[in-house]
Amino acid sequence: MKYFFLISTVAIFIVTIFCPPLSFASSDKFPFYPSLIRTDTGKPVLPNSFEQPTICSGCHSEIFTQWKGSMHSSAFVDPVFQALWQLGIKETQGFATNLCGGCHGAVGVVSSDILMKDNVLHTNPITREGVQCDLCHTIKESMFLETPTYEPQNASVVVAPGSVKRGPYKDSVSPYHETAYSELHTTSKFCANCHQVFHPVNNFHIERTYDEWKYSVYAQNGIQCQDCHMMPIEKAIETARTLKRPQHAGQPCSMGPKRDQMFTHEFIGANFTVTSLLGHKNHADLAVQRLKSAASLDITAPSSVQAGSLVHISVKVTNVAAGHNLPTSLTEVRQMWLDVTIIDAQGNEIFRSGRLNALGDLDEEARIFNAAAVDKEGRHTYKPWEIVRFEYNKTIPPKGFAIERFAFIAPSSAQGPIKVKAILRYRSYPQSLANKLLGKDAPVLPIVDMADREATIQVQ
Ligand code: HEC
Ligand code: HEC
Ligand code: HEC
Ligand code: HEC
Ligand code: HEC
Repeated sequence: MKYFFLISTVAIFIVTIFCPPLSFASSDKFPFYPSLIRTDTGKPVLPNSFEQPTICSGCHSEIFTQWKGSMHSSAFVDPVFQALWQLGIKETQGFATNLCGGCHGAVGVVSSDILMKDNVLHTNPITREGVQCDLCHTIKESMFLETPTYEPQNASVVVAPGSVKRGPYKDSVSPYHETAYSELHTTSKFCANCHQVFHPVNNFHIERTYDEWKYSVYAQNGIQCQDCHMMPIEKAIETARTLKRPQHAGQPCSMGPKRDQMFTHEFIGANFTVTSLLGHKNHADLAVQRLKSAASLDITAPSSVQAGSLVHISVKVTNVAAGHNLPTSLTEVRQMWLDVTIIDAQGNEIFRSGRLNALGDLDEEARIFNAAAVDKEGRHTYKPWEIVRFEYNKTIPPKGFAIERFAFIAPSSAQGPIKVKAILRYRSYPQSLANKLLGKDAPVLPIVDMADREATIQVQ
């Protein structure tokens, strides 16, 4: 008996000291763990409790056309996502099913209707619609105060599918559904639930677009994600410049009133690769336009140098229009780099940085603005479920800049001026990663030149 007390006291001591407080999300609070999505009843629902977007299109046809072809409408069928997800499901023995599904195919998660069998993923047609109308408009609240980091993350929303559609208006009336005003839908906090991907076990912030925005000059001026991503692109560019919220009139429903303020639904980001792969040319073109508006380049170089001398130049990249870091989100995969070429008066290349090799991969020495993710052994990894930390994060903060320095030897005899050409280039993924994920279907990945600049140096 004496020993029993001793052992139990020691055991209680050990439990109190060594068991962490409830810092990890648990499956009883979150029925679809590791996704933090919940239904209002706490129970799974039938997939058809969500309505198909084509039903909404009957009355909201303009909004439907904008959404169809957006990365939200492709969030589930996206071939790059599917390849990485299915690999994740295999490597984690199913842990990644709900984790990734909670944001990319939430209907399938809350209806417990995603199954990987004989290497084939099975689900219902409405899950394949990705982030669709009825999912977003039946989101009732954010559970951010109950997440391990008290930040919105990993789909920390409550969905209440049914007749009430929640939106920005206090006075809207519809013959088809009930309406309710939702302040949440009018702020970045709404987007944040899905635009922050944290590792569910070690809580590392793999994607943190919302946090980047939250401490930016945009947030300080009340500018929300919606003001740039749910607005015609020229208005978003203007907003980034003036730091004033945009105004855009329209008619949300063919049978409803004209409104002074209405938000569009293309959700243009940077993805011109998958949008064009899936045949959504309009969305792909708009993403290119957005990328070309995001940054500016400046070259600092001496106006003249001695022949044969060591010359230093620098290139400054400024994030002028992104409301978060540039690039953001999958920063361990996205490629934004400087391609710098220096040529002499005869057109010979005397320096180059940022070249692609014959296989289409980027020179290891290239100046790239990204994050390097590693697993617990410190090996580089592109698999979100393995990431424990970033070795570095070289993305550029909102309205911030990065300066890259280069050095080269001027030609030894003066034969005329040298030309410096700098281009800021963007590619959605490394070519080798696309080849690995998409196999024989992998296209040669397109590149967008976001900005360029030239300078001339006289040689004496
Ligand atoms: C919290 C929500 C959330 C979770 C959880 C999540 N994602 Fe994502 N995922 C996103 C968002 C938002 C983007 C878009 C970011 C961007 O475009 O930069 C994205 C983009 C991607 C892309 C890039 C697709 C493309 O076409 O470029 C891949 C691949 C991907 N996710 C895979 C996964 C995998 C695998 C998991 C699970 C291990 C996962 N995601 C979990 C929200 C999530
Ligand atoms: C029969 C026509 C009709 C159909 C079908 C329809 N709606 Fe509506 N909806 C309306 C009308 C009318 C309004 C009011 C518009 C206004 O006041 O500007 C409206 C308003 C809304 C609002 C704004 C609510 C607010 O208070 O801010 C949302 C969100 C919405 N609808 C979502 C949907 C979704 C999602 C679907 C598909 C599941 C859908 N609607 C299907 C007619 C329809
Ligand atoms: C990613 C989530 C998301 C998806 C998907 C989505 N919406 Fe919205 N929608 C919003 C948000 C957020 C607002 C309000 C923006 C604001 O006021 O700041 C909104 C606004 C609306 C409005 C009010 C008018 C307006 O445009 O401002 C209607 C109507 C509407 N959505 C219908 C739809 C329909 C129909 C679809 C599918 C074709 C759809 N939505 C898809 C998030 C979404
Ligand atoms: C239910 C989860 C969810 C919500 C809510 C959500 N998103 Fe997304 N969003 C995603 C996912 C998942 C993707 C990535 C799809 C892919 O790349 O396969 C995405 C992609 C995007 C993209 C395209 C990124 C690119 O690379 O082109 C933009 C822009 C975007 N979302 C903006 C928003 C904004 C603004 C809001 C809030 C009004 C919002 N999202 C709300 C899940 C969500
Ligand atoms: C001031 C305008 C502005 C605001 C505010 C803004 N964005 Fe962006 N966003 C951009 C621009 C410009 C790009 C293209 C450059 C880039 O990729 O960063 C972009 C790109 C993106 C991408 C694609 C990133 C990639 O490289 O794949 C996502 C996802 C995204 N934004 C989500 C959000 C979310 C979520 C918010 C709110 C927390 C937000 N944005 C706020 C302007 C804005």
